[in-house]
Amino acid sequence: MQGRTCLSIVLAAGEGTRMQSTRPKVLHALAGRSLLGHVLAAVRQAGGTATAVVVGPGHEAVAAEARRVLPDAEIHIQNERRGTAHAVLMARAALMRGADDAVVIFGDTPLLSAQTLGRLRAALADGAAVAVLGFRPADPTGYGRLIVEEGKLTAIREEKDATSDERAITLCNGGLMALAGKHALDILERIGDDNAKREFYLTDAVSIARELGLNTAAIEVEEDEVRGINTKAQLAEAEAVLQKRLRQAALEAGVTMPAPETVFLAADTKFGRDVTVEPYVVFGPGVVVEDEAVIHSFSHLEGAHVGTGVSVGPFARLRPGAELGANSRVGNFVEVKEAKLGEGAKANHLAYIGDASVGAEANVGAGTIFCNYDGEAKHRSEIGKGAFIGSNSALVSPVKIGEGAYVATGSVITYNVPADALVFGRARQVIKENRAKALRAKAAAGKKKDK
Ligand code: UD1
Ligand code: CA
Repeated sequence: MQGRTCLSIVLAAGEGTRMQSTRPKVLHALAGRSLLGHVLAAVRQAGGTATAVVVGPGHEAVAAEARRVLPDAEIHIQNERRGTAHAVLMARAALMRGADDAVVIFGDTPLLSAQTLGRLRAALADGAAVAVLGFRPADPTGYGRLIVEEGKLTAIREEKDATSDERAITLCNGGLMALAGKHALDILERIGDDNAKREFYLTDAVSIARELGLNTAAIEVEEDEVRGINTKAQLAEAEAVLQKRLRQAALEAGVTMPAPETVFLAADTKFGRDVTVEPYVVFGPGVVVEDEAVIHSFSHLEGAHVGTGVSVGPFARLRPGAELGANSRVGNFVEVKEAKLGEGAKANHLAYIGDASVGAEANVGAGTIFCNYDGEAKHRSEIGKGAFIGSNSALVSPVKIGEGAYVATGSVITYNVPADALVFGRARQVIKENRAKALRAKAAAGKKKDK
């Protein structure tokens, strides 16, 4: 495909009514990334020259997601849903600019790979004017059927328009289509809406190309590649397929995972060498785990950077902006958000560290809370290198604890603490000799009187 220009047209104007959701269908997530994000990632990886995304009216969120993933994607709006060919023609301006290949991709086909897009384009390079993807689904209901005569693809028949003989065909249309740029507009403009749904079907491009004496090609792929998402059940099925792929890739990259089927990964999770992930760990988007780190069971990570040799969990929660320096430790029931832990710092049990920086080798005792929110705004705190925060302390942000300082257990810290100071922020302990006995005696006397 070297040297050939390619325009990718992604159709994302479909409504998500069967998803039972107010959210546009293509914004539902798989492995921490939107369906549209997956499709556009494959498009980007396949190395197209330009991308047009066709969205429905009022779908600003869909357009924003497209721009987030591919900042130079052009957005076109289809105001009325009049069929897949009609949707493609919304990107007419892009088609008129000309490209060797024009590839139409559905925004709800998230498991598509860049290789498959490459195979479609290769068919164009081999002389086809129209190339489609065929697959043999376990259940062909609802799909268009590929009509192949004498080894040549002659038409695609939508199920609603098919005869019973045609419905018996098991080779179905995956939906994607590649059109030779020099014929694309001519073919698309000849498509009419003379069919059961009174829609402009992109699939009619095949028979039109044949009538014009042009070549067509069908390329058969695995069902997973073209699995379309129309329902929440299909979304869950696709998630299972994708998780399997991601776990396999992590194992192949050398991650030790004794129970991979219990680990949930995000499409962008990154692992260094000799990382161990124990059973039942969930990765949200944006996590990087460096060499030799161990993620213990039942931990939940999202938007976090886990440094070399770090130990996380069991039962830890890393939220966006958590940055754990080399060899630091975050133990059970510790939550870290927008906070940096220096090298070798420890928070071994029951703590909330939010909007903070914790110096190297500092120790955050059990039950320590960074009180970062005053009901109006968030505030940051800093803990110096080697400081020791005694158990059950509340650090009322913003506050600075100097290097090597020692915070006594149970303190409420509201003022900055200088380096190497010892600070108490709690009521002094008071002892009243024999007062317990006296209290009991008083209580017993009261009971007697009541009888
Ligand atoms: C389509 C194919 C069918 C194929 C199936 C594979 C056509 C006519 N039919 O059927 O042969 O087997 O996909 O999944 O192409 N869209 C728009 N605007 C429209 C209509 C559709 O943007 O006016 C978008 C939808 O958002 C969706 C895609 O095009 O992403 C496919 O449309 P959909 O209605 O789901 O087509 P199918 O009936 O599934
Ligand atoms: Ca569909």
